[in-house]
Amino acid sequence: MASQIITLKISQLSNFCSDSCYHRLVIMMDRTVASHFSELTQSLQSLPKVQNIFYLQGAENLKSLDMYAYWSEKLLATSLDRSTHMVAIGGGTITDFCGFLAATLLRGLSWTAIPTTYLGMIDGAIGGKVALNSGVGKNMIGTFHEPDNILICQHFLSTFDQQQLKRGLGELVKYALLSEQIYQEIMTGKQVIELILMCAQYKQSVVAQDLKDSKGLRMCLNLGHTLGHSFEKACQISHSEAVLCGLVLEGYMCENLIDNHQSLKALEIITTLHLNVVLQEALQKIIDMWQPNNMINFCYHDKKGDQGLITIVITDKTHKVHNLQLSPGDFKDKLSYLQGIINTLISSFSIKH
Ligand SMILES: NC(=O)c1ccc[n+]([C@@H]2O[C@H](COP(=O)([O-])OP(=O)(O)OC[C@H]3O[C@@H](n4cnc5c(N)ncnc54)[C@H](O)[C@@H]3O)[C@@H](O)[C@H]2O)c1
Repeated sequence: MASQIITLKISQLSNFCSDSCYHRLVIMMDRTVASHFSELTQSLQSLPKVQNIFYLQGAENLKSLDMYAYWSEKLLATSLDRSTHMVAIGGGTITDFCGFLAATLLRGLSWTAIPTTYLGMIDGAIGGKVALNSGVGKNMIGTFHEPDNILICQHFLSTFDQQQLKRGLGELVKYALLSEQIYQEIMTGKQVIELILMCAQYKQSVVAQDLKDSKGLRMCLNLGHTLGHSFEKACQISHSEAVLCGLVLEGYMCENLIDNHQSLKALEIITTLHLNVVLQEALQKIIDMWQPNNMINFCYHDKKGDQGLITIVITDKTHKVHNLQLSPGDFKDKLSYLQGIINTLISSFSIKH
């Protein structure tokens, strides 16, 4: 059964949990979120259905096998049983990690995702892909386990300042490249906060057609992610910033292979959303840590790869999505071409300021 996406006020969350059909709840909450929203924590703690509340620090290193071993032992030591429903409250790392725990403990617990970052609300919590990272690559240990409910409370975003919020908009640019409707809403000045539900529903509609990513339809959601994941791993930038750079640079990388306008369109959207500085800073970090062999290695081991080839997902000007495959050798040549492009982009932004 597909997840239901529900928008709520924070003050309604406890009632939702209390009135739900689940008999026992175990709550897994991001520690930073808990510190900002202590009223929520207190009201959840007071619910008779809540068996335990655990606090975890949302971060990429949470999605590791060591943390999985630690938290699964900790949860199994409580009186967890198959009727226990897990509620994960936090950003994309919390929903990926807790969703993976829910998928695997006792062969599967039902769960609810309550995303608290912009990225989590429009993407991370939607679609049931749950995963841990391995040394080889991101999200390499994972499965599909859709939450029953995705509860979206925009008020969680009130703790982020404008700059932090902007750094989380990489996946919004992806949706604008995929959906003409979202693109038009951005171009006509719709506030990013008003686009959350539209993006979440867009992803949900793609997922509904290809739940297990077996028909190739879900592939479009990987736009910007081949280079993106390698930048995230090799250059230590956030997922959202890495995707933002991936969307722009994959277009340039494929310009001789397919008539695409992805880079120019992504840059147009980035300018409209006032993300030039975010892009410039992320590109600078990539150049400062430029490691082509590492990047190729991460892309080579990417889950999207096929028979030793590196897959890149690209949109043409009609929003149609294509999968292109490159040999590691071609990929390496294109990376050195990109190095020049990145330097040009960085200096063109500097001139404009
Ligand atoms: N499963 C999927 O389909 C999918 C899709 C996209 C991204 N992801 C994953 O999402 C992860 C990135 O998620 P993220 O960007 O949300 O990062 P995150 O979960 O690491 O959160 C970023 C930081 O924000 C803090 N935080 C969370 N909510 C807050 C709030 N309301 N106020 C203040 N601080 C808050 C966290 O403590 C953390 O320090 C990556 O691991 C990525 O792979 C998964």
